[in-house]
Amino acid sequence: MTARGWSPESWRNMPIRQVPEYPDQAALAAMEAKIARFPPLVFAGEARRLKASLARAGDGQAFVLQGGDCAESFGDFTANIIRDTFRVLLQMAVVLTFGGALPVVKLGRMAGQFAKPRSSDNETLAGVTLPSYRGDIINGPDFSPAARIPDPSRMEFAYMQSAGTLNLLRAFSTGGYADLHQVHRWNLGFVERSPLAERYADLATRIDQTLSFMQACGMSDLPQVRETEFYTSHESLLLPYEQSMTRVDSTSGDWYACSAHFLWIGDRTRQPEGAHVEFLRGVRNPIGMKVGPSMDADELVRLTEILNPTNEKGRLTLISRMGADKVEAKLAPLVRAVTRAGRNVVWICDPMHGNTTTVAGYKTRPFDSIISEVRGFFDVHEAEGSFAGGVHVEMTGSDVTECLGGAHKLSETDLSANYATSCDPRLNAEQSLELAFLIAEELKARRVAGLTAPAQAAQ
Ligand code: PEP
Ligand code: CO
Repeated sequence: MTARGWSPESWRNMPIRQVPEYPDQAALAAMEAKIARFPPLVFAGEARRLKASLARAGDGQAFVLQGGDCAESFGDFTANIIRDTFRVLLQMAVVLTFGGALPVVKLGRMAGQFAKPRSSDNETLAGVTLPSYRGDIINGPDFSPAARIPDPSRMEFAYMQSAGTLNLLRAFSTGGYADLHQVHRWNLGFVERSPLAERYADLATRIDQTLSFMQACGMSDLPQVRETEFYTSHESLLLPYEQSMTRVDSTSGDWYACSAHFLWIGDRTRQPEGAHVEFLRGVRNPIGMKVGPSMDADELVRLTEILNPTNEKGRLTLISRMGADKVEAKLAPLVRAVTRAGRNVVWICDPMHGNTTTVAGYKTRPFDSIISEVRGFFDVHEAEGSFAGGVHVEMTGSDVTECLGGAHKLSETDLSANYATSCDPRLNAEQSLELAFLIAEELKARRVAGLTAPAQAAQ
């Protein structure tokens, strides 16, 4: 059924933010028509499966791990980069599954995370002002007038890169790479030399022993052991592209955004009467919305009604990103208001976007602030009697030096060694694994305290 008054283009009648004016409107229209004929990247049935898994996370019976680049880039389109990020997500997921005794819903910020909201429309460098870089699907990162012109032909390459990335992720998920028997092999070279290596190896050994035990019991060929479910997600920012990728599902007759399984609305584009909310309210995918410190409790409840009028479980994930110093004060009243209004949501924590600072000329994030926001998030949910349903992180499998701290105590002077992000600072592989161990401890404590709903069949 189509939502009342909604069509794939109804967002065009609403005020829109963060989507630039394309100088060549005819080229834009031609590209939209071209992409509208391309095959969908995901299927409605997959999105429905993800929604069912997210519904379990909302009830405390699963935990969501959403992670990947701040912005994917055309220049970094290689099998190794995709494999390494996927591999760290797998490692994080086993750590979390083991600690929490909960199935982990794996959701990559991958295969489509190309469009970026910016705090300013322009960027000034050495007295020269140019339009800001908005992600590779819109314009180029080079500081030159030509690169910064919004170019519709970039949408086609973004689609192709998404298809190539997704193809590899599907192969890794079901073709043997994600087999739990490989758990030792997922350790990356540089993480092997880290203080986390022993801890991970110890866990991998315990998993091996469990698998041997299962084999001895005649349970060796379960698909849950041999393969994994991995889903894709990105910010639903560039609406001309998203509209072109929106299709009717032939099974249900419902509209689905087919550029990824899960799309979210950013903190800068969540106006109840705005174009981005209008677009996502009408597609039936599971969707997310960032919730930052300026969110008002009544407005949040209203947004949950607009985006999920039937109060369907698993439909709406609220991604809280308050900052370590604000999480307790800002999140608690919002959680209370949503609970009191009886709205079904999955709460997950993005400890990245509220903790960005500039140090020695680099945009960075202190690992301690990231940990502190995650802990605050768990504390708020424990106090409010709600479920801490997951985390959302910007991370990579590469050995980058973008966030301060962690087991190797990355310092200000280390940042320049391998600062490679095309947008925000990401956790490197080691910091990601360390974060997973810390969250696993929180999950374990919650389980021991009886705050988790009993886990059902893992998947
Ligand atoms: C992001 O997730 O990259 C982002 C821009 O986040 P937010 O909308 O929360 O600022
Ligand atoms: Co970001």
